[in-house]
Amino acid sequence: MTGPDILSAEYDADPYPHYETMRTSFPVYVHESTGFYVLSRYRDVVRALQDPPFTNECYTWQIEPVMGDRTLVQMDGREHADNRKMLGGPLRGGDYRDRVVPSVELACAELVDGFRRRGRVELMSEFATWLPINVMASLLGLPAQDRPRFQGWYMAIIAHMVNFGGDPEVEAAGQAARRDMTLFLGPMIEERRARPGQDILSALCTARFAGGPLTDQQIQAHCAALITAGGDTTVSGIANTVKHLLLNPEHLRAVRADRELIDRMHIEAGRLNPPAHLIMRYAAENADLGDHRIPAGSTVACMIGSANRDPARFTAPDTFDPHRPEVDPARDFTPAGSVVTFGRGRHFCLGAALARTTVNVAVNQLLDALPGMRLEADASLRESGIFTRKLVSLPIRFDVATTEPPTERHSA
Ligand code: HEM
Repeated sequence: MTGPDILSAEYDADPYPHYETMRTSFPVYVHESTGFYVLSRYRDVVRALQDPPFTNECYTWQIEPVMGDRTLVQMDGREHADNRKMLGGPLRGGDYRDRVVPSVELACAELVDGFRRRGRVELMSEFATWLPINVMASLLGLPAQDRPRFQGWYMAIIAHMVNFGGDPEVEAAGQAARRDMTLFLGPMIEERRARPGQDILSALCTARFAGGPLTDQQIQAHCAALITAGGDTTVSGIANTVKHLLLNPEHLRAVRADRELIDRMHIEAGRLNPPAHLIMRYAAENADLGDHRIPAGSTVACMIGSANRDPARFTAPDTFDPHRPEVDPARDFTPAGSVVTFGRGRHFCLGAALARTTVNVAVNQLLDALPGMRLEADASLRESGIFTRKLVSLPIRFDVATTEPPTERHSA
C-alpha cells in the first residue's frame, strides 16, 4: 500500500480528497514513479520549506536548464540574500505605490474595457490569463505588442518545469522558448545599459552585484524567472478569488460594500485553492519527520494544497470562511502568516505584494465595471495542474453598466 499517485488523471481532476488520504494514512510516503518523498501535513510542509537540512538545490535540475542560469529560488546562503535584496528593490521598494500600482491599474483597465459592455465574459481566457503577464511586461519595460509572445514563453517554461514524465516535446518547447527569449532580450539589454529607464530591466542592467554588473545571461534568467514566477500563480489568485465570491453571494455583497475585505477574500481563496500546490525541496542530509526518515539526497514534494487544509492547523478547513480567525491579511502576505500559499521562510514569495495588488485591483475593477456579476448557469469550474493549478474556465454574466467606471480607481 502506498499513497496517492500525484501524476494520475484522477488526482489531477480532484486532488482534495487525496490530500485527506495522505494526511491521515500516508503522511510521509515515496511516490512510486518519481521517487519523491511526499509530505502533506502542515507542520511537516512548513519544516521542509524553511528548515535545514532541506535546501532548494532541486531547482537546479527543475528550472536552471530552462532559465539559462541560476535564479533566486534555487540559491541559498549569501548568494540568495544578496540577489533577493537586489530584486526586492524594484519589486517592493519605497516608491511601490507610485511606480507599481498605476501600472497594474492601467493594465487591468485596458482588459476590462474590452468586455465591460458585453454582458458576459470568459474570465480566464479574456482577463486572468493576461493581466499578470501584461503587468510584468509593463514593469520590465517590454513592448506591449510582444505580450502574446511572453505568454507563450512562460507557458512553455512552466510546462518544462513540471515535465516529471520527461515528455521530449515539452522539453524541446521549453528550450525553444528560452532560445527565443534570449534572442528577443539581447538587444533590449544592450539598449537599457546605454539608456536606463525606470523599469525593472533597467534596474537589472545597472545593478552592481559582487563588484560588477550582471552578465546578459544572468539578466535574462532573472527576467524569465520573474515572468514565470508571477504568471500562472497570479492568474490563479485572481480567478479563485472571483470564483469564491461568485459562489458565496453573501461575501460578494460584503466585499462590494467594503473593498477592504478583498485581501481577506484573496487569502482565504488561496488557502482553499492555492495557485502552487506542490513545492519541492532537497534533503541535504538525513532528516527525521516523526517516525519517518528522509534519506540524504532525496527530493521532497511539499503539498501546499494539503497543508492549507490540515485540520490540525485550520478549523473546518474545507469551508470558505474569509473571517476565520487564522486569516489575517496583515500577516498572510508575509512569511509570518498561517497559510503556506506563498511559501515560508527565506524563499517566501518575493512577489507577494505584487500579487496582492494585482488581485486587489482586478477584483475592485471587476466589481465597479460588472454589476450583477454571476456565474454562467453551466459553468463547470474544473481545475487542472499538479504543480501550479488553475481553473480551466470561468464564464460569467453581468448587467451592462450604464455609467462609466470611476475616474479615480480604488487603490490597492
Ligand atoms: C498569487 C500569486 C503568487 C503565488 C501564490 C506565489 C507563490 C510562491 C511560492 C509558494 C513561492 C515559494 C517557492 C519556494 O519556496 O520554493 C514563491 C517564490 C517566489 N515568487 Fe511567488 N507567487 C505569486 C506571485 C508572484 C509574483 C507576482 C511574483 C513577481 C515577480 C513572484 C515572484 C517570486 C519569486 C522571485 C520567488 C522566489 C523567492 C526566493 O526564492 O527568495 N511571485 N512564490
